[in-house]
Amino acid sequence: MTTASNFRRKLDVGLAHFYNLKVGGTSDTVAALSVGCGLLATSPALSAQLGAFPYSLLPIACTMAGGAWLAWRAMEPWRREHALASSLKIRSDQSPLEPDHTPGATTGGLLVGYTTDSGKPIYIDDEHLMRHLFIIGQSGVGKTVAASLLMFQQIQRGGGLLFIDGKIDAANLAQIYHYCCYTGRQHDFLVINPDDPDNSNTYNPVLFGDADEKADGILQLIPSTETNPGADFFKQEAKQALTTLIRALQRARLAYNVIDLTVLLMNGNAMLELERKLATAAPNSAELKEFTLFLDKFRVQPSPQNPAGGIDMKKLKDVFGGIGGRLYSFGTGKFGQIMNTYDPEVNLYEAIRGNKIIYCALPTMGKDTTARNFGRMVIADLRTAISWLQKLPEKDRPWPPFMAFCDEAGSYLNENWSRIPEQSRSAHVFFVPAVQTVANFQAISDELYEMVIGNAWTKLIFKVGTQGTAEEAAELIGKKIGVLRSLAGTTAESSSMSMLRHLPESNQGAGASMASGEREQEMCIITPDELKGLQKGEAVMTYGGDQIFNIRIPMTKFDKEAQARFGEFRVNRFRAQGLTIDGVHWRPAGFFANVDRYLSTAAVRKETAKAHEEDQKALNAELAKVAELQKAQGDAQAAAPGTAPSSAGSTAPSTAPSTTSSTKTGGFTPDTDAINNRKQKNS
Ligand SMILES: Nc1ncnc2c1ncn2[C@@H]1O[C@H](COP(=O)(O)OP(=O)(O)OP(=O)(O)O)[C@@H](O)[C@H]1O
Ligand SMILES: [Mg+2]
Repeated sequence: MTTASNFRRKLDVGLAHFYNLKVGGTSDTVAALSVGCGLLATSPALSAQLGAFPYSLLPIACTMAGGAWLAWRAMEPWRREHALASSLKIRSDQSPLEPDHTPGATTGGLLVGYTTDSGKPIYIDDEHLMRHLFIIGQSGVGKTVAASLLMFQQIQRGGGLLFIDGKIDAANLAQIYHYCCYTGRQHDFLVINPDDPDNSNTYNPVLFGDADEKADGILQLIPSTETNPGADFFKQEAKQALTTLIRALQRARLAYNVIDLTVLLMNGNAMLELERKLATAAPNSAELKEFTLFLDKFRVQPSPQNPAGGIDMKKLKDVFGGIGGRLYSFGTGKFGQIMNTYDPEVNLYEAIRGNKIIYCALPTMGKDTTARNFGRMVIADLRTAISWLQKLPEKDRPWPPFMAFCDEAGSYLNENWSRIPEQSRSAHVFFVPAVQTVANFQAISDELYEMVIGNAWTKLIFKVGTQGTAEEAAELIGKKIGVLRSLAGTTAESSSMSMLRHLPESNQGAGASMASGEREQEMCIITPDELKGLQKGEAVMTYGGDQIFNIRIPMTKFDKEAQARFGEFRVNRFRAQGLTIDGVHWRPAGFFANVDRYLSTAAVRKETAKAHEEDQKALNAELAKVAELQKAQGDAQAAAPGTAPSSAGSTAPSTAPSTTSSTKTGGFTPDTDAINNRKQKNS
């Protein structure tokens, strides 16, 4: 049964090789003619003419030469097998997409790499790209290089791109710029770079969006504290309050930035001023009623000590917690240079609709909480943009689908990601998160792991570093039913004799037995050890959970001469025109311009320092959890080695398991069972 299916598979592949063989051109025609002429010359009429030596050899030589050439050509697919070096002994499936090579036709997908066995290109079509692509691998194995190949094609085909670079690297910025120059798209290039504000476009992630979405996005800055049962209640209350505040600003047509919000959250008089401005702009609005009702909870009646009355700041701070302090850190220094704007050059929603190419640098990796929070704000802003895109008629959504490449995603990941894969598909946005370990996802929640990783239709798995990650990655690739064979041998010898004897009598015996057993068991299609042995630029790609490819990815790079021609990167500047939304001009909220009047620097610095401390604590706890998870997974492997006891129950060495039938189970469409299984595993 197994041999038959193996044979069938080989036959299918063989036939496919023949089917794909392209015969033609001068040399093939000459060869075919030689064979034809040779055969013709064996006819009685001609052979008589060529009877004499050496002419009689002519037909044989022609037939042999032509035949040899045609045989050589027919063997080409087999010659190309193992075209690229690989330590894995797997045969890749057929490419999910065979691009149309007729002139003018669009590919309708992106090239990911070339199979190691036959050197064939592997493409993914747009429909399946929109089910996302997940990249995992240890540092320096080719994740960014692989994504660069996709980004290059995306830029070349006129598509939009957001590249969030979690490990700021000047070479990455230069490379994207070169891609833009090569394809003539420099004018579409936007840069958000808090590390170098002079060469960055301006960006205000809190400005555009529905009030509740913006409130949600800002609350992402507060670390989740699972241990604090009051945290959820606090977040609900803070979200309600922030939504009311942002609604008031939007209804009064006031443009705001992070400092305006900080002032409002930390100063009661600013709140009252906003109330007055809203009353003038929209006296009968629901937003004014809502805002007044909200402020009523904090109003202080005038008293001899406080004749002016005002707002109970302590109570207000209790509601808004550390949000003000966190927002303030974005309004100062280099971040401030980019974010304190009312007319930002980067409006994510508009940029996606205009197929722009956006490079966003996160200043440092992992350890810095402001950069981490900034990454989360960008993701929250992207989520808002996605929710707007979803509402557009299908023909107005971006096409080709917009690519969001989140490099080093583990360093700015949070719960907010969980719904993104689901929403972005219908918005024509595809996600490409790249990580070094899956533990970052697991440390947050099992649901997040399943939603982001489990739901990715395509997974690119590079060489992984730790045993824990290798285990998880092997599981992502899937399992097959293999046969575990065991061989046990025992030998026994015995001898006996009577000590006191009158006859020369004694017994000796020897025995040997051999037992072999076979047992079917689930095993990894590619083992964790094999994954740890992958080479740089080589990956295992799973597609849809049931197709597997061993691929090599070409590195796209421009030579020095081309780079010199493109020149140094220069940021595109746009003339400030003031903020106009739906034909209505929005005025600046005005708190930022008078920040010194509202905020005492010492007080706000204290708040910011406190927020930083909390964030750092949360980050350390998360990193500790990641390390713990990795360790636990590594230990689990050590405790449960891959070899199961043989059915013969012997202690003799067992042979390596050999595969017979295979059922791939690596997974798309995770269900609650998968989540529960993982929970059990982790607990
Ligand atoms: N496909 C490839 N072909 C040739 N060289 C490659 C390939 N992939 C990676 N390399 C080499 O490895 C280096 C590191 O690759 P890359 O930056 O993609 O690693 P990474 O996985 O993104 O690492 P990190 O997580 O540290 O960012 C590249 O600069 C290049 O020299
Ligand atoms: Mg990288």
